[in-house]
Amino acid sequence: MSDLEIRNLHVNVNNREILKGVNLIVRRGEVHALMGPNGTGKSTLSYTLMGHPGYEVTEGEVWFKGQNIIELEPDQRAHLGLFLAFQYPVVIPGVSLANFLRTAINSRRKVENPDDKGIAIPEFRRLMKEKMDVLQMDHAFAGRYLNDGFSGGEKKRAEVLQMAVLKPEMAIMDETDSGLDIDALRIVSEGVNTLRGPDLGVLLITHYHRMLNYIKPDYVHIMLGGRIVETGGSELAMHLEEQGYDWLREKADPLSI
Ligand SMILES: Nc1ncnc2c1ncn2[C@@H]1O[C@H](COP(=O)(O)OP(=O)(O)OP(=O)(O)O)[C@@H](O)[C@H]1O
Ligand SMILES: [Mg+2]
Repeated sequence: MSDLEIRNLHVNVNNREILKGVNLIVRRGEVHALMGPNGTGKSTLSYTLMGHPGYEVTEGEVWFKGQNIIELEPDQRAHLGLFLAFQYPVVIPGVSLANFLRTAINSRRKVENPDDKGIAIPEFRRLMKEKMDVLQMDHAFAGRYLNDGFSGGEKKRAEVLQMAVLKPEMAIMDETDSGLDIDALRIVSEGVNTLRGPDLGVLLITHYHRMLNYIKPDYVHIMLGGRIVETGGSELAMHLEEQGYDWLREKADPLSI
């Protein structure tokens, strides 16, 4: 079982409590959308799940593949099959996209089999070409330094390419739709849809209904003030589009009006 189970998660950033008891289960094969106003803790949750050192877990647990991963290093979490597409992808000058991906594939293979010799270059080339074609990316991107000078949309495509190549079991995608033009949104969404299947769980953080028109979520959760305050189906995202968040603020805190 590689379900992701978040239990009563409390997280401090710079000694301020940002997550105040998050509960969430994402099973493999399911797509969950996480929505909510700016500054409510969505990215904090994604960084915490990947083990960013600046995010201090003060209470609660995160279970993945049958173990509490809170004490694991980020690379150990990645080797387990967790993947995070950042809201603001990092630039790594001097490391090409292809090299970065080959290193990532090989380090994961080595965890599974210490004697592994790494992916053969022709096989790797084939894999990259196939996945880049799905995402309609120019093959020249493989030779460019990771995210260096990539446009906003190109960075997002590069992230979905990483996902396609690394085949994670649980992907957390933080605003993968932001900054994408209409065509890119469709292409990236289709790319995610081709990865969808019984072996992949997805937590998709987004502000807009747009991407959810392409990637139909099984569940939609709303985060407010560091907690998930509402869960529903994809109709909940439609409702938000029309109503905004005020009805939830009132529900979460009757004294807020
Ligand atoms: N490294 C940090 N230092 C200081 N404050 C931080 C840090 N990281 C997060 N915060 C604070 O935590 C709160 C939640 O931020 P977070 O980025 O998780 O919000 P978000 O829900 O992802 O918002 P958005 O929709 O704008 O991306 C904000 O008030 C933010 O300023
Ligand atoms: Mg964010």
